[in-house]
Amino acid sequence: SFHMDIALVVLAAGKGTRMNSDLPKVLHPLAGAPLLIHAMQAGASLSPLHTVVVAGHGADAVRAAVLDHDPATHVVEQIEQLGTAHAAAQARDTLKSFDGTAIVLFGDTPFVHPDTLAAMVQAQADYDVVVLGFEAADPARYGRLVMADDILEKIVEFKDATDAERAITICNSGVIACNSALLFDLIDEIGNDNAAQEYYLPDVVGLARARGLKATVVRCDESETLGINTRAELASAEAAFQARARQQAFEDGVTMPAPDTVYFAFDTVIGRDTVVEPHVVFAPGVTVESRATIRAFSHLEGCHVARGGVIGPYARLRPGTELSENVRVGNFVEMKNARIGTGTKVNHLSYIGDATLGERTNVGAGTITCNYDGVMKHHTHIGDDVFIGSNTMLVAPVHIGDHAMTGSGSVITSDVEPEALALARAPQIEKPGMAKKLFAMLKAKKAQQQRGS
Ligand code: UD1
Ligand code: CA
Repeated sequence: SFHMDIALVVLAAGKGTRMNSDLPKVLHPLAGAPLLIHAMQAGASLSPLHTVVVAGHGADAVRAAVLDHDPATHVVEQIEQLGTAHAAAQARDTLKSFDGTAIVLFGDTPFVHPDTLAAMVQAQADYDVVVLGFEAADPARYGRLVMADDILEKIVEFKDATDAERAITICNSGVIACNSALLFDLIDEIGNDNAAQEYYLPDVVGLARARGLKATVVRCDESETLGINTRAELASAEAAFQARARQQAFEDGVTMPAPDTVYFAFDTVIGRDTVVEPHVVFAPGVTVESRATIRAFSHLEGCHVARGGVIGPYARLRPGTELSENVRVGNFVEMKNARIGTGTKVNHLSYIGDATLGERTNVGAGTITCNYDGVMKHHTHIGDDVFIGSNTMLVAPVHIGDHAMTGSGSVITSDVEPEALALARAPQIEKPGMAKKLFAMLKAKKAQQQRGS
């Protein structure tokens, strides 16, 4: 099959002034991931040998986010933002011995489709420079693609365009594919003698044509080239993402009676015949297998729900939660860093954190793993077929053996042997007639107070 070595260059140095934010624009989250991670993910579908992110404004924060996502990424810095060609040039040293196709993406343009990038790589086999273009409903201030039949002659920025060029409706997305060495060679020739006094990356097209090289356009839908400049645009992009994710979930066989109230993250995976009730939020890192039910108003993050699980309503699954098949997690239950065995039930008002629970165990209402001593976190281990009485405080580290029981209201501070019943609460005492005397005394006192006032 067709193969070419790829390097990605993601431009992410701009300030994003119109976001009015201390956070660099490319770090604002979309579907739970920083904007530029979306561009990186689209590019990652090409299995690039190198990914170079050009950071500038907020470079330290951008570097941290990028390395957190993929530690193999190269982050280079553009100290002054002198234009897109100057930004791309910062990747030159990193790619100096790379012999393949460089693809330049924008960090603020999250929706470019992997298939579109693949089409560009394909076209790059026959053309020296490939530009991603789109038919703009409102071309506004986009760069215009000046074509002669199928040949791309040059790109003119709106500010520099003649009236005739401004009438062109096919526009530059900013994404460019070109042999890496050639790209940097062409960039060397780019000047800043233009309306913005910036080094324009799109100038590589005219310069390539002047050398008799071939340039062409791959077209995509305008929705793929959507760039984010303002918080309102970020919200619209989120809505667009969610609409597509919901549609995808339907196609994957997920039932959602109120899809508009369900929110997905960039990496949510949900299996066939799973039901997602209204007002469920999937934060990053969630996989739900088939035939599960996520009931209304639940929030899931960094967790795995195996087949047949029933979660919620009003459940919160936090990172590190691993549920085996047919687990039930009921209302107002929070779990974190917890492995729960097959068929186990935690149905009401519980906190289960830093814990391992066996199979077919039942955890009574109000039970809490006291995992934090104020300084350190400790683990709770509960075996198979255990019955934890309601409102048990399990003071970790603690181990409850298989087939054991705890009495309701117990504060369990030491390990419980298999098959044992542990009771750790004050024994009940009963004083006959005492309630009647107390009531009489209290009512007399109240009557005395009312006379006095
Ligand atoms: C650019 C294109 C324009 C295209 C449009 C599509 C140029 C000169 N123009 O214009 O043809 O229609 O995108 O949205 O390329 N950046 C840096 N360093 C810089 C300058 C920019 O990293 O010195 C980054 C920005 O952070 C941003 C991207 O490059 O992610 C695009 O820059 P921007 O200034 O938004 O370019 P446009 O004016 O939109
Ligand atoms: Ca822009």
